[in-house]
Amino acid sequence: MQIYLDNGATTKLAKEVKKAMEPYLDEMYGNASSLHKWGREARKAIEKSRETIAKSINADAGEIIFTSGGTESNNLAIKGAAFAQKDGKNHLIISKIEHDCVLNSSKWLEKQGFSVTYLDVDKYGIVNPKELQNAITDKTFLVSIMHANNEIGTILPIEKYGKICREKGVLFHTDACQSFTKVPIDVKVMNIDLMTLNAHKIHGPKGVGALYIRNGVKLIPWQHGGGHEFGKRSGTENVSGIVGFAESVNLLTKEEKDKMTELRDYLTAELLKLPETHLNGHPKERLSNNVNISFHFIEGESLLMHLDMRGIAVSTGSACSSHSLEPSHVLLAIGLKHEVAHGSIRFTLSRYTTKEEIDYTIKQVNEVVGILREMSPMKKGMKYDVVDEHHH
Ligand SMILES: Cc1ncc(COP(=O)(O)O)c(C=O)c1O
Repeated sequence: MQIYLDNGATTKLAKEVKKAMEPYLDEMYGNASSLHKWGREARKAIEKSRETIAKSINADAGEIIFTSGGTESNNLAIKGAAFAQKDGKNHLIISKIEHDCVLNSSKWLEKQGFSVTYLDVDKYGIVNPKELQNAITDKTFLVSIMHANNEIGTILPIEKYGKICREKGVLFHTDACQSFTKVPIDVKVMNIDLMTLNAHKIHGPKGVGALYIRNGVKLIPWQHGGGHEFGKRSGTENVSGIVGFAESVNLLTKEEKDKMTELRDYLTAELLKLPETHLNGHPKERLSNNVNISFHFIEGESLLMHLDMRGIAVSTGSACSSHSLEPSHVLLAIGLKHEVAHGSIRFTLSRYTTKEEIDYTIKQVNEVVGILREMSPMKKGMKYDVVDEHHH
């Protein structure tokens, strides 16, 4: 059996999406800036896609620009807003559990003279709205807090953060790469000014994303050139990618989402029957496809490799940082000890995941955890605290 449970890292391209993209890879290969028929076809496809994506979040088509993905959208939102400030505002606020592209954009801005507040989260990964309110100063221009965390699956109350920011006259950006299509988003009701989306987490193609920029919000473009995407992101548009992105937006049905949630809860309950395990992230306010479990006394990397040999793909930390030996900054931020963070595994389901696959996974995890715990030196008399006492 080959079982892919790493849909938080990326997803399989849906058949429907591939089919929608094909004409734009074959006969309709025009440059959307060209005036002839080929160009007009490409332009038409891009504008239709823009409308589809805008509609799905209650935005206007003119508020959506296409980018190369989540990383680029987050970079553009944060750096673009920073350099658009004219009245001496130089402070931004992010949370400690943001994706590396938000964290590292912010760290880079610090080197350019901006100041950054990194907000703590509680044991579930949620930023306390009061702490956000208190962190905002008259120098603050932007708050960036993600909608759902990619590692632990917690859904954050962004409507609360949005309201605070709007009242204080501060821009609110949210990274919605993980929540998009799984959790309803209304940029108007939620007071969102900037929002990052991408396609490859929702069975669309890799290398394409979007940034929602509310009408009137000023950003300094990061990529200069021929003035594509309303002058905010130059470069010949990835027409087939954009068409595929739009096609992926309306794929997930209510039935599929309900089934995914049911399988998520089943997998969680079965894995927690193993002694000395716990669930990371919020028990209820979490993504319909995310299960993140700490298996005490074992190395997540070993578990991952054993499962890989048995045909099951999972992840430790986020895919982007799992080449490093540092434990995930997200797991540390929710208060886990280093050794516990190292024993954590993320299982992320998709609309294609079946009960048979989950049953097989439960059986294999049980076996492997048994084998690894037998060998674990940590198990033999070592002090092993799950939560860092100094944290909460
Ligand atoms: C929450 C979050 N933000 C940003 C990204 C980066 O997006 P991309 O891979 O499209 O650059 C990812 C996924 O990798 C993500 O999970």
